[in-house]
Amino acid sequence: MGNGEIHMNRRQFNKLLLGTTLLPGVPQANALTDNAGAGAAPAGQIKSSFLKQIPVSGESIPAVGMGTWITFDVPPHTKPLNQRTEVLKKFFATGGSMLDSSPMYGYAEQILGHCLTRLDHPGSAFSASKIWTPVESQGPLQMQTTENLWTVKQMDLMYVHNLVNWKAHLPRLREWKASGRIRYTGISTSHGRRHAKLEELIKREDFDFVQLTYNMIDRETEKYLIPMAADHGIAVVANRPFKRGNLIDQFSKRPLPSLAKELGCSTWAQYLLLFVVSHPQITVAIPATSRPDHMDENMAVMQMEIPDTATRNAMLKTI
Ligand SMILES: NC(=O)c1ccc[n+]([C@@H]2O[C@H](COP(=O)([O-])OP(=O)(O)OC[C@H]3O[C@@H](n4cnc5c(N)ncnc54)[C@H](OP(=O)(O)O)[C@@H]3O)[C@@H](O)[C@H]2O)c1
Repeated sequence: MGNGEIHMNRRQFNKLLLGTTLLPGVPQANALTDNAGAGAAPAGQIKSSFLKQIPVSGESIPAVGMGTWITFDVPPHTKPLNQRTEVLKKFFATGGSMLDSSPMYGYAEQILGHCLTRLDHPGSAFSASKIWTPVESQGPLQMQTTENLWTVKQMDLMYVHNLVNWKAHLPRLREWKASGRIRYTGISTSHGRRHAKLEELIKREDFDFVQLTYNMIDRETEKYLIPMAADHGIAVVANRPFKRGNLIDQFSKRPLPSLAKELGCSTWAQYLLLFVVSHPQITVAIPATSRPDHMDENMAVMQMEIPDTATRNAMLKTI
């Protein structure tokens, strides 16, 4: 160093390249416009500021996705299946794209597969799941099961869930990416766990997405992990935006701040979610819901103006 050379890793190089051109294989339709292709809402619905870029590819993706832990872990019977299909229908109708699941979530992957089949696999769906097993040889079997349950030919993103045996699974994810079986690799964590290890992996390993917990109360990750991931060209997915619904329950006992109304939020859920997705380095947040009306409410956040840093700080002072 000190000789005027600029050192950059592969992702930083890709990012630079994307300033002028698109990488091979990256769909042109994903440009940042109000009526972009993959994942976009009907014209004008999603504000372009809520279409975030995946650093490694430049593909853009709507900032509100959907989680499935508990909410989609229901037996495949007619009534729950109909209701979850309605939830997903709303999700796609309002410009949704990223769906997040895991073999850890009981029936969730199976239910997703049923619903996606009923909806004829909307082209904007971005499928994300995880490998979650300490046993190396189980990884490929789990992958096969995930593809079968989701009824998809190619998963978009596969994470190592909660860092479980990442040493064995991460190289395998890279192989699958190289062969075209998946499009992106990732590592997930939550509940503020294993941050030191995650920091080490962000610095040392090569993967495209990190999933971690970030919400208006749990903000430890914004101090160093989120900026560090962004610096390394890693997309950041925020899980538990409502802390499994607890934040909504807790805050709903208070009146909605006037700032929330000024920003266009009519509920605490919208205010909490707007805060998360307006972080410039958060790529997608994945709130979970079992209710179509809640899905509409959550997706409507992407039709609001995105708050700037000063407004986000003011939001924090209201809670
Ligand atoms: N290690 C990991 O990889 C990891 C760990 C944790 C979570 N995750 C992912 O992150 C996702 C989200 O986290 P989470 O499931 O903990 O919870 P969350 O999204 O923070 O909260 C979900 C809860 O919020 C309620 N809710 C959603 N929208 C609402 C609205 N507009 N009004 C009122 N209530 C609303 C839901 O109830 P209703 O059904 O009644 O709407 C549900 O009980 C998970 O589903 C999972 O996909 C990953």
